[in-house]
Amino acid sequence: MSENTMLKTNERGHLVVGGCDVVELAHKYGTPLYVYDEARIRARCREYIGEFTRRYPNVEIAYAGKAALTMGFARLMDQEGMGLDVASAGELYTALQAGFPPERIKMHGNYKSNQEYRMAFEAGVGRVVVDSLIELRQLSCWAKKLDAVADILIRVRPGIDTHTHELIQTGQVDSKFGVAIYGGEARQAIETAMELESIRLHGLHCHIGSQLLETDAFERAVDQMVHFIAEMHDELGFECEDLDVGGGLGIRYTEKDNPPSVAELAEAICPRLRERLAEHGLAEPRLILEPGRSIVGEAGVTIYTVGVVKEIPDLRTYIAVDGGLSDNPRPALYDAVYEAVVANRADEEPSQWVRVAGKHCETDTLIEDAYIATVEPGDLLAVFATGAYNHAMASNYNRFTRPAVVLCCDGNDELLVERETLADVVSHDVVPRHLAVPQTEECEVGE
Ligand code: LLP
Repeated sequence: MSENTMLKTNERGHLVVGGCDVVELAHKYGTPLYVYDEARIRARCREYIGEFTRRYPNVEIAYAGKAALTMGFARLMDQEGMGLDVASAGELYTALQAGFPPERIKMHGNYKSNQEYRMAFEAGVGRVVVDSLIELRQLSCWAKKLDAVADILIRVRPGIDTHTHELIQTGQVDSKFGVAIYGGEARQAIETAMELESIRLHGLHCHIGSQLLETDAFERAVDQMVHFIAEMHDELGFECEDLDVGGGLGIRYTEKDNPPSVAELAEAICPRLRERLAEHGLAEPRLILEPGRSIVGEAGVTIYTVGVVKEIPDLRTYIAVDGGLSDNPRPALYDAVYEAVVANRADEEPSQWVRVAGKHCETDTLIEDAYIATVEPGDLLAVFATGAYNHAMASNYNRFTRPAVVLCCDGNDELLVERETLADVVSHDVVPRHLAVPQTEECEVGE
């Protein structure tokens, strides 16, 4: 735990995030509560921009909004000079409502709906990342219909296996994403795009996977992509202005994780890209990266209230917290492992192994084995590194209300998202007339 860079305490022994005492935040906003350290997010953006620009000046860092997107986050990313990757109408709408500059938006998705095409054109997003031949034709039809031109990248499946959970691998041959280099599909997409008048092909995109803890897969992706670009240059006269290598850098969920630094990632990608391009005599494209998790993941903490402590003799102790699967589905989906601390006694040495359970009506284990200080009902538990794919993946399962999101900086706390209310939970329900509660005129109301 000593290496945990989120573990800052104050004189009361309370956990502090962004200069704010999380015990006070819990009293003010209730629990569960997502708390973000603003300075830490900004520092990460600057680190990415700084480390990459130094090695490859023609670069854009586009935050992958799927990791955590609210209008406030979109504003923050704009202020930091980041681009933005959106993957749905909802993410695009959020960005536009927040006034994010459309020209710095990349529109993703392996199946874009008509609503999404229309929104992308109307907003004038910088790049639509085309995922299939079908999409290419649909996009061209939309462009013609609207008398516009679509600025696109083509998402390529380079055929790279990565060492990460199979559900978050995306660059391998057997994947729903992109057009494959292998078998000629990607070549066909490029050829078609170059022929279509309403399409302006700016370059290629690939994303090989997420939570990658080594840089080797990025290196292989650079090799593969440049090799392919060179082939397409020679065979079709294709000029690649943009090369987007996606996101994927892993973060430290537990002290066992040792992700590469942003500098190491930049060092793995930039000189190699230059070298490979030079070998093939190719001009240097703009390099685009789309980090999500590594921008916000470690900046977020979730605060829960412990409700029940249950000891099963000779087996284990369970502690139940007031959230679980609905605010963090990652342990259930990807066997994700987290670390936690008793937030109101964060300076106390851990002394016991417990299983942290949620409060859903199923076995929703949040942390299988957490090493924490002694804990009683009413204590607060802080789970670290929940900044990415937690609020973004939260649900109303069991009709839970989704937690509030708070952004902390220099001891000031600001709401990013209000806690849902019970009224919100039923706000979209409709009771068909034949199921409505009968309205009788003389209905007796008991006390
Ligand atoms: N670009 C594209 C096209 C992507 O598909 C993704 C993530 C990213 C960028 C950002 O990747 P990151 O830097 O965050 O690794 N829900 C899963 C992760 C799914 C990632 C999907 N794509 C999880 O909780 O681990």
